Amino acid sequence: MKANIIDGKAIAKKIREDIRQKTIKLKEDRGIIPGLTVILVGDDPASQIYVRNKEKSCRSVGINSNIIHYDSNISQDTLLKKIYELNEDEDVHGILVQLPLPKHIKSQIVLNAIDPQKDVDGFHPVNVGKLVIGEKTLEPCTAKGIIYLIEETGIEIEGKHAVVIGRSNIVGKPVSLMLLHKNATVTMCHSKTEDLKDIARQADILVVAVGNPEFIDGSYIKEGAVVIDVGTSRVNNKLYGDIKFEEAVNKAGWITPVPGGVGPMTIAMLLENTLYCAQT
Ligand code: GUN
Repeated sequence: MKANIIDGKAIAKKIREDIRQKTIKLKEDRGIIPGLTVILVGDDPASQIYVRNKEKSCRSVGINSNIIHYDSNISQDTLLKKIYELNEDEDVHGILVQLPLPKHIKSQIVLNAIDPQKDVDGFHPVNVGKLVIGEKTLEPCTAKGIIYLIEETGIEIEGKHAVVIGRSNIVGKPVSLMLLHKNATVTMCHSKTEDLKDIARQADILVVAVGNPEFIDGSYIKEGAVVIDVGTSRVNNKLYGDIKFEEAVNKAGWITPVPGGVGPMTIAMLLENTLYCAQT
């Protein structure tokens, strides 16, 4: 079987166009222009690229975007003060602190300081708690994008066995919960999981988010499965996913490429969350 490719780039483009229209309407109807402020600390090259892409994408749909760039030795207190200030700023509807932060700053303390209603990443404990109990909330962008891509295949999530490899707060945990709320039977796997291959091979839906280039080969994949590759590792200036695409594409029914799969959806969902914050 040769898998269908899930074209995240094309799907994200459609979503951006929809957001652009809704942004125009929000300005016409209520005079509101959505605003996103991104805080970047230090000069990690990957983070700089992500942040620049987020800003470019905001501009393309009419969302105001502002990057605050701090030196890596900024104090935690200075960062917290800036967040408190942004929490009060009526023109700022969304606040995103790019992770990872330097080691001397406690990420969770910083994330906890963001007003939950401006938390476009969905990382604040209030929003995480709402996600756990199934209340409507701001959902983490990558996880939300993954669900969107699975639904785009037209394959019903309900009743399926979904296997998620990776248990991060950013992707693995939230996407597992979201699949569970859609009535999948969810197995969460991680670096200590025994018999990983046997479990992965039972997956109707396989989501891999471990950040280990080409860690999953074709032998982990059930014939016809929906396979979502969240990994983006740069090796010798080439981008690799967590899955050996050339092998997996001959087993899966549907598969995301890297690049052009999950990545563009993460940014599209960030725009969607920012618009939502401005509307409410
Ligand atoms: N670093 C890697 N992914 C993300 C993300 O989704 N949000 C933030 N804030 N930082 C990240």
